[in-house]
Amino acid sequence: MTTTPEEVYVLKIGGSVLTEKGELKQPRPATIRRIAQEIARAARKNLILVHGAGSFGHPQAKVYLTTREHKDALITHEAVKELNMLVVSALTDCNLKAIPLHPLSGVVSKGGEIVYKLNDQIELALKQGIIPVLHGDIILDDKDGFCIVSGDQLVVYAAKAFKASRVGVGTDVDGVLDDSGAVIRTLTLQDLEKQNIKGSEHVDVTGGMKEKVELLVQLAARYKIRAVLFNATKDSNVVKFLRGDDDLIGTLITG
Ligand SMILES: Nc1ncnc2c1ncn2[C@@H]1O[C@H](COP(=O)(O)OP(=O)(O)OP(=O)(O)O)[C@@H](O)[C@H]1O
Ligand SMILES: [Mg+2]
Repeated sequence: MTTTPEEVYVLKIGGSVLTEKGELKQPRPATIRRIAQEIARAARKNLILVHGAGSFGHPQAKVYLTTREHKDALITHEAVKELNMLVVSALTDCNLKAIPLHPLSGVVSKGGEIVYKLNDQIELALKQGIIPVLHGDIILDDKDGFCIVSGDQLVVYAAKAFKASRVGVGTDVDGVLDDSGAVIRTLTLQDLEKQNIKGSEHVDVTGGMKEKVELLVQLAARYKIRAVLFNATKDSNVVKFLRGDDDLIGTLITG
């Protein structure tokens, strides 16, 4: 059984932040470094970190979903693992203890449901002051071959399993934007029906902003766990989130 430590924070940094999402396998090293430094500066205990795949996963997964060839699934996994290592190394360079947790080795899709078997690893890591670093990945599917688990789905899983007190999702936009481009400050399940939220400008096999918001609204409505969606390309926003700072501009997703 999972024992939940006090005050667990779940932070996702999107692939739109860590990579050039319009390119193929192009990281943003300075941004990866800055985010690691901000995580070190905030010194938050019990942090579960998730990152998206960006150009280290979406274009590769798109190929797999077309060909359904085993080698293309492996190419997808290898690419996102490379990005994961860049993130883990950047954290290590900041004297933080971090470990990679690859969903392919602990998450499967069975009967249309995603089954996560990463609780023990996360629990033991947190107990030892280690930051587990999960990422969107390709996973085995009992129907046939592989399917995708998104970083956003992993955020919801980790937040529920560890009863997160704060959930933050950083992307390359200031929050969820309305039709005029203004940041929606709070968003509920009811609001969602009125908004015209689209996917992503880039290749995003997991539904981009629309699916992200739908997942987070459900998390808030059913489990009373709120999330803040903010711009992680802007300096200090990660620190602000990790410190629970009210100056953080973004969209608060409530039930
Ligand atoms: N209403 C909206 N408000 C804000 N962003 C939106 C909206 N509709 C679509 N988007 C797009 O969603 C993008 C962010 O979602 P996206 O899935 O591309 O990023 P990510 O989750 O950070 O990346 P990854 O999936 O690689 O982790 C923005 O760059 C923007 O282009
Ligand atoms: Mg996405």
